[in-house]
Amino acid sequence: MNADAKKTALRMIPYGIYVLTADDGKGNIAAATVNWVTQSAFAPPLVVVGIKTDSGAYRIVRDGRTFALNMLGKDQKGLAFTFFKPAEVKDGKISGQAYRKGETGAPILTDAPAAVECRVKHIVEEGDHHVVVAEVIEAHVMKPPAGRPDNAILEMRDLGDNVFYGG
Ligand SMILES: Cc1cc2nc3c(=O)[nH]c(=O)nc-3n(C[C@H](O)[C@H](O)[C@H](O)COP(=O)(O)O)c2cc1C
Repeated sequence: MNADAKKTALRMIPYGIYVLTADDGKGNIAAATVNWVTQSAFAPPLVVVGIKTDSGAYRIVRDGRTFALNMLGKDQKGLAFTFFKPAEVKDGKISGQAYRKGETGAPILTDAPAAVECRVKHIVEEGDHHVVVAEVIEAHVMKPPAGRPDNAILEMRDLGDNVFYGG
């Protein structure tokens, strides 16, 4: 396989940008910007997320079995960059962002336009990111989108010409 062709072809896949948050109930809170996300079933409503196995987020999701996906709005590029770095919990905020605990205990970011809470069903342990299959058990819309919901989401291509995760 040609390495450049592999990179270019895979980078043609479009992605939304989300902040995955989780709380394992033992004092460990994760918040990480992720893009490898899609819905994979209607009934039950399932999503799949590719999570880096050496990340704090992976350990907390694996152990706590729940997480939230906080949707980022078109104007929230700054938040995406905030959560590329390991999260820091201080003064009741995660990396400076206000949040509340959801149904599952996962942090719901106050400024996110919407979020879903998920319960882990299965983890496919292949590669340097494992595929977490999870059921959506709660949904929150803090800022209803004016038009198509998928027009409201921050996308990988909004992050600049040189930002990719994939390829
Ligand atoms: C553009 C971009 C997209 C990313 N997408 C993912 C992803 O889909 N899954 C993932 O596990 N990490 C992804 N990351 C890495 C996480 O953001 C990063 O590992 C995390 O915030 C670091 O925190 P932690 O290791 O303490 O959990 C991405 C990073 C960048 C720069």
